[in-house]
Amino acid sequence: MTSLSLASGTPSSLKVDALVVGIAKGPKGLVLTPGAQAVADHLGKGFIPALTALGATGKAEEVTLLSTMGAKGPAVIAAVGFGHPTDGFTDEGVRRAVGAAVRALAGTKSVGIAIDPAAVRSAAEGALLGNYQFSTYRTTSAAAHREPVRSMVLVVPDAKDKAAKAALRRAEVVASAVCLTRDLVNTPPSDLHPAELAAIAKTECGKAGVTVEVLDEKALLKGGYGGIMGVGQGSAAPPRLVHLSYKGGRGATTKIALVGKGITFDSGGLSLKPAAGMEEMKMDMGGAAAVLATLRAVADLKLAVDVEAWIPMAENMPSGDAIRPSDVLTMKNGLRVEVNNTDAEGRLVLADAISRACEDGPDIVLDVATLTGAQLVALGARTTGVMSNDDDLRSSVVEAAGRAGEPSWAMPLPVELRKGLDSEIADLVNTGPREGGMLTAGIFLQEFVTEGVRWAHLDIAGPAYNSGEAYGYTPHGGTGAAVRTFVQVLEDLSG
Ligand code: BES
Ligand code: MN
Ligand code: ZN
Repeated sequence: MTSLSLASGTPSSLKVDALVVGIAKGPKGLVLTPGAQAVADHLGKGFIPALTALGATGKAEEVTLLSTMGAKGPAVIAAVGFGHPTDGFTDEGVRRAVGAAVRALAGTKSVGIAIDPAAVRSAAEGALLGNYQFSTYRTTSAAAHREPVRSMVLVVPDAKDKAAKAALRRAEVVASAVCLTRDLVNTPPSDLHPAELAAIAKTECGKAGVTVEVLDEKALLKGGYGGIMGVGQGSAAPPRLVHLSYKGGRGATTKIALVGKGITFDSGGLSLKPAAGMEEMKMDMGGAAAVLATLRAVADLKLAVDVEAWIPMAENMPSGDAIRPSDVLTMKNGLRVEVNNTDAEGRLVLADAISRACEDGPDIVLDVATLTGAQLVALGARTTGVMSNDDDLRSSVVEAAGRAGEPSWAMPLPVELRKGLDSEIADLVNTGPREGGMLTAGIFLQEFVTEGVRWAHLDIAGPAYNSGEAYGYTPHGGTGAAVRTFVQVLEDLSG
């Protein structure tokens, strides 16, 4: 277990193995960041020249390690770059720099991080998120790989400051929710079928004081959830719909519903995916994980909002029982959908969950899903696509995501794309033309949003999973995308 705390004092008085200090590109070479000023005197005049000699440039996320040659205090100074101060001293710049430094220090037992007191929240988030490792399935000895840092200390001028303590607490709750999401995304699908994911939602959210209801396959059949049942029917592991309810009381005025795609494995079904890359489809429950983790965080933070979450869970498998391309499903809201591609399964389970969420008359519905490969084509792997039936809502989600440090971009829902979903025999098909695939998926979902309900849809197909190398505070694998955006949006809406 990792601990994170606040401390004040000189570097030589800190009982840590390494001390992280921020540097940046100045007009005439390396400079210290504001956070490093507090410890500047103790680093000595030789610090910047020593770093320069070692080749440090101050560029963002560059980590340079320096020995203190037996002096009192930390044995190692880790200088981390913030880039040009004009673009570096943002909350996200702090998060990334601290995350990169902590990642580089894996294997070190205790680490101090000299920071600007205004940056407690972002430094804490960067430290906790950058320190994450998924080791559940590792049996080789710790010596074979570098373990996460055990104890981290944020070095500030006044460790007793109330605002600093509150910022630290918020960061801990949010980072813990992000790491829960990462763990769930990284877990092999053989250990995380719908029933198992539902059970985790129940324990994790239940202990935080959230009311949990799990609809099993019998309840889903009885309830008319044709989309969820249809997608789940090819798997030996039956589907679930998890309903979480959090009442913030105290002046909560807006009724918010969250919906998250929970495909525990997406093989494509009979419209089978190619073998290459199929292993990454264990991440297709990233939206579901983000929603359940958000509910836990919102309850832990006691936000004054009312939130209902509807999380559909199914495994998309090919088998003798699987839905066929050309089958017609009767959805929760009565619409009939002709399934022309069983790999467009996410929208089918989401449609039912959105319909159900709308039955309670919410003001706002937000859904999040690893929905389309087209999202990656349009925006790349790191930027979430945000679509909505309401311009103001879409802007406020994109803006909140930016503050939370999750890149996202407003995308349209062009009405002319609806005809691409016309069916010859039913109300609509589930798959339209390739062009604008992310937007067509949004248009499909919109059919299941009740008139008058403000709704936004977040496509996190790329952002939910980092297929490449770790960077900043983001590891390889599950990233925990959308949790910080949702907590920020709900905090903004809380009374
Ligand atoms: N889960 C996938 C989308 C996906 C792709 C997520 C890549 C993450 C990375 C989704 O269920 C899917 O298969 N979508 C199809 C839809 C198509 C058949 C209309 C796609 O994007 O290819
Ligand atoms: Mn699919
Ligand atoms: Zn999918």
